[in-house]
Amino acid sequence: MSGSESAASNRWLQGKVALVTGAARGIGLASARLLAGHGATVYLSGRRLELLEALAQEVSEQSGAVVRSLLLDVTDPASVSKAFGSIHRENKGLDVLVNNAGVLKDALIGMVGAEDMATVFGVNTFGVLHCCQYASRLMARRGGGSIVNVSSIIGVTGNAGQAVYAASKSAVIGITKSLAKELAPQNIRVNAVAPGFIDTDMARSLSPEKFQERVDSIKMKRIGTAEDVAGVILFLASPLAEYVTGQTIGVDGGMLI
Ligand code: NAI
Repeated sequence: MSGSESAASNRWLQGKVALVTGAARGIGLASARLLAGHGATVYLSGRRLELLEALAQEVSEQSGAVVRSLLLDVTDPASVSKAFGSIHRENKGLDVLVNNAGVLKDALIGMVGAEDMATVFGVNTFGVLHCCQYASRLMARRGGGSIVNVSSIIGVTGNAGQAVYAASKSAVIGITKSLAKELAPQNIRVNAVAPGFIDTDMARSLSPEKFQERVDSIKMKRIGTAEDVAGVILFLASPLAEYVTGQTIGVDGGMLI
């Protein structure tokens, strides 16, 4: 096999259509870049269309793939319906969904406001359900697909001061297992990643003390990168994971062993 043939065969998502939610930065953007680098047509979705348009152009130039921007607020059923409607019109289907959009609002249980509870569940849990609903219909028409949900190590272990976030992310693991069972007959795989502590704007929103405490708890003694998580998302999205469904894979540098 020639070098170029070998490189081409390593483009694991050639000809596939992928949607990444919350793709303007962090883990979402790194995943979108990697999926596009592996040949997928990628929809960079989020709430700030102008920013997404500029990013889509940049990612497309870097990867040579078709990359589109898409307005999609995962908490708004009308926005979700409209976004999936345009993917359907443009591609007649979808192969990969990365449910990445998420928010973090830390507070001790006595201090959590109802509004924050609703926001966190609205994005992290209901957002995942809304997108899975539409994606599963489009994937079924295509004869299968792969959904990758971004949960969190906190959804597995829990954490003081993070009851709401932990609940919203544990729910994502429940969704993953349930939909894996429900959608397997349609050849739709549903898996999750559970990142540990990853160097993004979300992690940098913690106080310096909490930030250091988290880094110290990592066995590999370094914070993870968005690319560390994107690699596992690519694996789960690709044919390499063809016989893997219902799993939650930790990406945490050994935080949880
Ligand atoms: P980030 O804050 O950089 O990115 C989150 C993205 O979600 C942003 O682009 C934001 O605009 C978008 N978003 C928020 N609400 C939205 C909505 N209603 N509709 C559409 N998009 C929306 O954070 P990061 O770190 O890249 O997080 C990505 C995912 O990884 C999240 O689900 C987060 O909970 C999860 N995660 C992150 C960890 C970390 O240490 N950074 C650890 C474990 C999980």
